[in-house]
This record gives sequence, structure tokens and C-alpha cells, in this order.
Amino acid sequence: METKLTKLLEIEYPIIQGAMAWVSDGQLAAGVSKAGGAGTIAASGRSVEWVKDQIRFVKERTDKPFGVNVMLMADNHEEIIDLVCSEKLDYVTLGAGNPIPYLEKLHRAGIKAIPVVPNTKLAKRVEDNGADALVIEGMEAGGHIGKLTTMALMTQVIPQIDIPVIAAGGFVDKRGLAAALAMGAAGIQMGTRFYASRECTAKLAVKEKIIESIDTDTVVTGRTSSHSVRGIRNKMSDKYLKLEREGATKKELNELAMGSSRAAPQEGDIDWGFIQAGQSLGEIKNILSCKSIIQEIVEGSQEIISDIHNKFV
Ligand SMILES: Cc1cc2nc3c(=O)[nH]c(=O)nc-3n(C[C@H](O)[C@H](O)[C@H](O)COP(=O)(O)O)c2cc1C
Repeated sequence: METKLTKLLEIEYPIIQGAMAWVSDGQLAAGVSKAGGAGTIAASGRSVEWVKDQIRFVKERTDKPFGVNVMLMADNHEEIIDLVCSEKLDYVTLGAGNPIPYLEKLHRAGIKAIPVVPNTKLAKRVEDNGADALVIEGMEAGGHIGKLTTMALMTQVIPQIDIPVIAAGGFVDKRGLAAALAMGAAGIQMGTRFYASRECTAKLAVKEKIIESIDTDTVVTGRTSSHSVRGIRNKMSDKYLKLEREGATKKELNELAMGSSRAAPQEGDIDWGFIQAGQSLGEIKNILSCKSIIQEIVEGSQEIISDIHNKFV
């Protein structure tokens, strides 16, 4: 399947595995890249040494393209960018800050720069400043979210942008890829679907929680501090939201949430850890290999696209 994204990244299928802090390591990235998509290591919260080890891990297992995600609010983001430049990665996705100062440096190292943006204004800015592609991420997504939905973003950003636009937030199946391509996206980025994959090293209890959750099971914490994070409702999020409603201080909220995004995937704490996940949970029904996930979505979307006329009669 060829799109502007597959040509840019030299991958087989227009599917990027979205970076997931404390979840997407070298094993998941390698699984996705070997299956023909683009796997992304999440550097958020990690040391430079850890990221370096994960890059080596992937390189030992595949020569297919893969990338690293750099959260620009992280204290060590400059060092991570130096590392990815010296490791000559295929691409870097950049979020949570202004990516523009880093685009030239990444390009000089031969790395494609793909900012994650939440609105049309920022999409245009990063395109004008030389981004190679961009991810528009709707508020259906798991993790840190903006204000607009994926549909509103696809509708309004794609017509304004010439570089490949990757749609993210709520994609888990073949219909999602077909719909995104029909909207003019060059591909999709999925996080939660790959969380519940065989190659994902997160604890089984967390993957099972994703499988058994349904459409209404996510909540958004942190709206009062404009640090909104979507995840599956549990004891921690109930307490957090109660504190937020009662006007708790930032310090109190931080104390409660401290370490929770790590505790879920790394320790399997499904009550007091926070399982960051997107809204399309009801259609994630089993833990599959990255290859099966990608094959099902790609083959199914091709059938949908070629069959679309018959669907109306
Ligand atoms: C557990 C989890 C952690 C995430 N961490 C990051 C991150 O560190 N950096 C980032 O840019 N996006 C992060 N995201 C967003 C994903 O990269 C992706 O855009 C999102 O999951 C897409 O929505 P979906 O979950 O509905 O597929 C995270 C998402 C999840 C589910």
C-alpha cells in the first residue's frame, strides 16, 4: 500500500506506532517495524542510556525504519536529540513543546522530523518551517491530549497542508485506516491498539484491562491545569478528579499522580497506576501480534476501499 507517508519513511504500510511513555520500548518498536509499519521508542521519562539501549536493541533485530519520540518538556530532551542525531535514526516525532528550533539539526543529521500538533495554526507553522510530515492527534487519543477531535482535525488541517498528514486518536481497525485515507490523510498513528499487542512488554493485567474496557471507560485528568491526560478510569483517576473538582492545589494533584503512568504498564498496578488509553477501546478485543494487527487493518481497509460502491446498494 503506497501513500505519501510510506514513500517518505520507506515503509510498507501507512501505519505508525505512536510513542507511549513507559510502554513503547525497543521490543514493541521492532515488532511494528518488522511487520511493515513504523515503530517508535518513547523517550519520555527515560534516561539517555535507556534510549540508546533501546535503539541498539531495534537495530540488532531489524534494518527496517524506526524512530524515537522526544517530548520537548523533558529535562533531557536536548541530550536525547543529540543521541538520535548521532544514531542516525529514520525519523523523530516531537511533542509537548516547540519543535521548530530542532528541525534543522535533525535534517542535518539526515533524520525526518515529524511534529505532533493539536490544531491548524501549529500544523501550518511546522510545515512552513520545514517539517517532513506531521501528526494531528485528536482528543480521542490516549495520553496527553489537545481540545479538538480527530475528525475536526482531519477536516480542517488536511486541506491546508502539503506534507504528509498522519491522523491519530481513536484508530484501531480497518475502517479507521480506510476513513483516514478517504479524508486525505497519508496514514494513521495508533497507540492503544499496539499497547494490547503481543510484543508490548507492559504487564498482562494492563493489557487485559484494555481488552475488557468499553467506549465509555476513559476519563481525562488534569483539565484544570491544561495538562489533560486520557486513560482508563480507576481508583486513582476517581480520586484525582474528585480532588480537581474540590479545587485541590497543583502540588496535591501531582503527589497523587506521581509515577502513576509508569506504575500501570511497568508494575501492573491497575488501581493506582494510570492506564493511558484512547476512547476506541470497545473494538480492541484481543492481544495480537503487531504483524496480525497491521495485516488485518491494511488488508481490510483495501477491501473496504475497493468495495465501497457495493456498500451503498
Ligand atoms: C500509554 C500511552 C502513552 C503515550 N505517551 C506518549 C508520548 O510519550 N509521546 C507522545 O507524543 N505521545 C504519546 N501518546 C500518544 C500516542 O503516541 C498516540 O498518538 C495515541 O495513542 C493515538 O491515539 P490512540 O491511543 O487512540 O491510538 C501516548 C499514548 C498512550 C496510549
